Amino acid sequence: MAKILVTGGTGYIGSHTTVELQKAGHEVVIIDNLSNSNIHVLDGIERISGVRPEFVEGDVTDLATLRKLFETHPGIDGIINFAASKAVGESVEQPLKYYRNNLVSLLNLLDLMPEYGVKGIVFSSSCTVYGEPDVNPIDETAPIKPATSPYGNTKQISEEIITDTIHAGAPFKSILLRYFNPVGAHPSAEIGELPNGVPNNLIPYLTQTAAGIRKQLTVFGDDYNTPDGSCIRDFIDVVDLAKAHVIAMGRMLDNPESPKLEVFNLGTGRGLSVLELIASFERSTGVKVPYVIGQRREGDIEKIWADPAKANNVLGWKAEASIDDTMRNAWRWQQKLAGKV
Ligand code: NAD
Ligand code: UD1
Repeated sequence: MAKILVTGGTGYIGSHTTVELQKAGHEVVIIDNLSNSNIHVLDGIERISGVRPEFVEGDVTDLATLRKLFETHPGIDGIINFAASKAVGESVEQPLKYYRNNLVSLLNLLDLMPEYGVKGIVFSSSCTVYGEPDVNPIDETAPIKPATSPYGNTKQISEEIITDTIHAGAPFKSILLRYFNPVGAHPSAEIGELPNGVPNNLIPYLTQTAAGIRKQLTVFGDDYNTPDGSCIRDFIDVVDLAKAHVIAMGRMLDNPESPKLEVFNLGTGRGLSVLELIASFERSTGVKVPYVIGQRREGDIEKIWADPAKANNVLGWKAEASIDDTMRNAWRWQQKLAGKV
């Protein structure tokens, strides 16, 4: 059993990961400034796992707050750093907010880790670092392409900051996890994604449309070079994703032979088009999604899906949920938000 600091732990992926960490017997301390999440998420976590995690309301960009956390919660073994701003469009409009929040928070954690004897940090990166891939599926040796948004750039810079720090001999390990497209919700419908305002991402927009909150979903382009003309993504169930974090943390803390720095793709290895995803939702829930075909969205990648072989073989982790189950869970969560479950 280890004591894990989860930054951004009341957020979408952080809350699911906290549940899996607790189920595996770990003790979790969350720090979150609630800038993109709600305190009631702690109730959902408690209802699923039977344990209410320690919670510190605070900002990871504030070094004094972080230092106080390490003083009042001694013995933290590892950190999973989810705390970041993540809206691509907003990052284009407010780049400094993104560079400050995403980079200063990471610098603060890396600064304090040696002082408080923290042995490892898992970092939330993204397949966005690959840009438009030359080949699919894409593995971890593929080139990093120039970032297309300040948000994407913060992921690339963060990976470089961690890499340089480890190479300089920092007394801790790190695992960089490149997520493909996290979707779905916990099957209990106790926790899920809480989009702020009008969603930009596909699944929350789709489920809100199915629920009648939005009139129709616009499919951004059907003239891409793909079998049905819509973009292709690798949609990874959020619970599967959460489980990978528990394994990654265990590897850093318990395996003295594991490298000081590793990077893994987290995806299913299956590419699914936007139209196929809509079909899966309709098939698995029996609910129709009104949609129209619209213009391409600027900056969109045509097709990207993961080669997850490294995570499969080295971590012994594999995405297990079927897309239909994932869609059913996303729908149950949407109904829960509407008070219908
Ligand atoms: P989220 O917004 O749901 O969760 C992030 C949490 O961090 C929120 O609860 C927010 O309140 C908190 N936070 C933000 N800045 C903070 C700060 N300075 N101090 C304390 N708390 C702060 O996002 P998510 O989808 O759970 O994403 C988690 C991580 O995974 C992020 O780093 C994100 O960039 C990365 N990621 C997400 C996706 C995705 O599609 N969701 C894909 C790739 C990578
Ligand atoms: C986007 C970000 C990526 C980020 C990820 C998770 C861009 C270019 N990339 O990925 O950096 O890590 O979100 O936050 O913004 N779609 C529609 N209609 C909609 C919404 C989406 O057709 O209303 C399509 C998109 O064109 C895309 C697919 O659905 O082909 C997935 O979109 P989205 O959920 O926004 O994720 P990404 O664009 O893959």
